Amino acid sequence: TPVNTQTAVKALPDAQTVTEVTHWTDRLFSFRCTRPASLRFRSGEFVMIGLMGDPDPKTGKQKPLLRAYSIASPSWDDELEFYSIKVQDGPLTSKLQHIQPGEQIILRPKPVGTLVHDALLPGKRLWFFATGTGFAPFASLLRDPQTFEDYEQVIITHTCRDVAELEYGRRLVEHIRTDEMMGELLGQENLGKLTYYPTTTREESLRMGRITTLLEDGTLFADLGIDGMSPDTDRAMVCGSLGLNTDLKAILESFGLEEGANSDPKHYVVEKAFVG
Ligand code: A2P
Repeated sequence: TPVNTQTAVKALPDAQTVTEVTHWTDRLFSFRCTRPASLRFRSGEFVMIGLMGDPDPKTGKQKPLLRAYSIASPSWDDELEFYSIKVQDGPLTSKLQHIQPGEQIILRPKPVGTLVHDALLPGKRLWFFATGTGFAPFASLLRDPQTFEDYEQVIITHTCRDVAELEYGRRLVEHIRTDEMMGELLGQENLGKLTYYPTTTREESLRMGRITTLLEDGTLFADLGIDGMSPDTDRAMVCGSLGLNTDLKAILESFGLEEGANSDPKHYVVEKAFVG
């Protein structure tokens, strides 16, 4: 029961308190929580978060139920933010979607991940390709001054089933463009570097189609007035479903881009979005 879950979590050293919850659609929500003073992370990294699982029917013991979640907040923020899908029969998200401010989650303070600036060689243009909750690591990276210092152009594409699922990302981009503090932090003159390219696949909108299709048929480049991609100039970060990641990797490789890692920076990096 929820009461038992909360009692058990409170006893754990890695407990953090939820401060705010926003439900975006019946499939998507975001929440904020306290940040351990000792937690340092690089924009784009993920941590393991979760709740106590149900008691074992035989022993009555509860084990933590943890999943990888990209940190959606920037590294300078006092709090942490996460963006999640709700899977009705998902072991964790079926419970996590009911979390309320004041309640606690478990957070293992060991950030890791490949969607980091360190894994890319210097370049001119940075592409962020997101589908669904894959927007989360980019919500962090888009609020990191380094993103705009290191590149001449930053393009974020976000593909969702319908318009409502784009809202979290749309608001974040709007906040970056209009908030005075964000302008100061990122450099007002840098905001023009940012291009936001939302698309939907199952509901009519201004731009429809999977980003893979729009890349392959040239629509994306035509829309943006860009010739194409090259390992000399372009860097990319990809975060979506397994299918999206596989398909986009093949497209990026067809342009000559190679996959990088923390220990071996190259032209693009990929991470699977949390899926339930
Ligand atoms: P589609 O509606 O054609 O499946 P989801 O909500 O299922 O995670 O999907 C998020 C978005 O990612 C959807 O718009 C979906 O399009 C798109 N998508 C799913 N698989 C792929 C893929 N292999 N390549 C490109 N886009 C994909």
